[in-house]
Amino acid sequence: MSTESIRERVEEYVLHTYNRFPVDFVKGEGVYLYDAEGRKYLDFASGIGVNAIGYGNETYKAALKDQIDRLTHISNLYYNDPLADAAEKLVKATGLSKAFFTNSGTEAVEGALKAAKKYMKLKGRENAQQIIAMEHSFHGRSVGALSVTGNEPYRTPFLPLMPGAVFAEFNNLDSVKALVGDQTCAIILETLQGEGGIYPAEEDFIRGLRALCDEKDIVLILDEVQCGMGRTGSMFNYQKYGIAPDIVTCAKALGCGVPVGAFVLNEKLAEASLVAGDHGSTYGGNPLVCRAVSTVFDVYEEEHILENVNKLAPVLEAGLDKIAAESPKVLKRRGMGFMQGLVLAPEVKVSEVVAACLAEGLVVISAEGNVLRMLPPLVINEQHIDEMLTKITKVLA
Ligand SMILES: Cc1ncc(COP(=O)(O)O)c(C=O)c1O
Repeated sequence: MSTESIRERVEEYVLHTYNRFPVDFVKGEGVYLYDAEGRKYLDFASGIGVNAIGYGNETYKAALKDQIDRLTHISNLYYNDPLADAAEKLVKATGLSKAFFTNSGTEAVEGALKAAKKYMKLKGRENAQQIIAMEHSFHGRSVGALSVTGNEPYRTPFLPLMPGAVFAEFNNLDSVKALVGDQTCAIILETLQGEGGIYPAEEDFIRGLRALCDEKDIVLILDEVQCGMGRTGSMFNYQKYGIAPDIVTCAKALGCGVPVGAFVLNEKLAEASLVAGDHGSTYGGNPLVCRAVSTVFDVYEEEHILENVNKLAPVLEAGLDKIAAESPKVLKRRGMGFMQGLVLAPEVKVSEVVAACLAEGLVVISAEGNVLRMLPPLVINEQHIDEMLTKITKVLA
C-alpha cells in the first residue's frame, strides 16, 4: 500500500484529534525506526516514553508469542499466572503493597483518585474531597484525570469537570500549604513533569509534601506514568528523593508497548480504600499484558537497564548542555536521566524543529513551553547519543 493511501485513509476514517507528522512507521529494530519508504530514523521519543527496551527485544517477543499461544484474556473473575508474576514484581519494585492493573496511564490516575476518596470516606472524613494538583501537570484526558491536569486549553472545552480540584505552583510548598485544609483529600503530582515542559521537582518540595501529607493524613499520589520505570535511573523517580508515596501510578514503559498501566497502594491505603465491587476493568491485568509487564522487569534486570541510564545520563546531559551553551536557538536544558528537554528561544517554533529533526532521520517530540523533548529508549549507547547530537546540531544550525 502506498504511503499516500495510508495517510488518506487514516484522515478519512480516524477522528482527527491528532495533527500527525507525515511519516508512517512500519518497522522497528533496536533503537531505530523505518518508514514505509525504507528510511531509517534514530528514535529519541520511544513512542512517548513507552518503548524503553527498544524494538525487537528477543526475550520480550518470545514471551508475548508464547502467551498468545496460551491465553490472552480470561477476565478478572479468575486467577491467572502472569497476573501473579507481574503484580509481585511491580509491588516489590515500588516498595508499596498492592497493585491494580489498568489499560492506560489515565485509568491508573482515575483509580488512584477513587482510592484516595474512598480512604477519606472510611476515615469518616466525608467532606475531604478536594484534590490539590499542580500547574503545568498532565494526568490524562478522561474527566477525572483532566480535572487534575493543570493545562487550561485541555480543560476549558470540557468544563465543568470533577468538582474539588485546585492547583498549586509546582516546587512551591507554601502554595500547596495555602490550599490545604480539612477539605483536602489528596495531593497529586509528577516528580518530574513531562508534558508540562520537563520540570524536575526539587528535593525540599517532595520531602515537604511527604511531611505535610503525613502530618495531616492526606493521600500523596505520585504520577510516574512518564518519569517512572527507570527513565531517570531509579526504577521509580520518587526513590531518588528517598520518600515513598501512598499511591503511585505507572504505565508507558511498564508494558513496553502493550496497553497497560497500574496504580499501586501502600499498606495504609490498601487496607482502607477499594474493596471488591468498588473498582474493575474487563481487560485490566489480562494474561497478555501481565506477561509483558513481568518480562519487562526481567529484561531490565538481565540487560542492566538502570545501570545503562545511570552511566549514560551524564553523557547525554553534557552533550545537550553543550548545545544549549553554543546555540542561540536554545535557552537551556532541563531534565533528569533519559527524560530531557531543550528549552528553545521564543522565536524558534518547536514543532518546526521536531519536523526538521524527522527530515534529518531523528525522532523527537515537543512539550509545553517550546521545549524539545527527548525520551529515548533506555537501551541507547554512546554512539546513539553522538548521532542524536550531530543531527540536532545540524538542524539548529
Ligand atoms: C504523567 C502522565 N500521567 C498520565 C498520562 C496519561 O497516560 P495515558 O496516555 O497512557 O492514558 C500521561 C501521558 O502522557 C502522563 O505523562
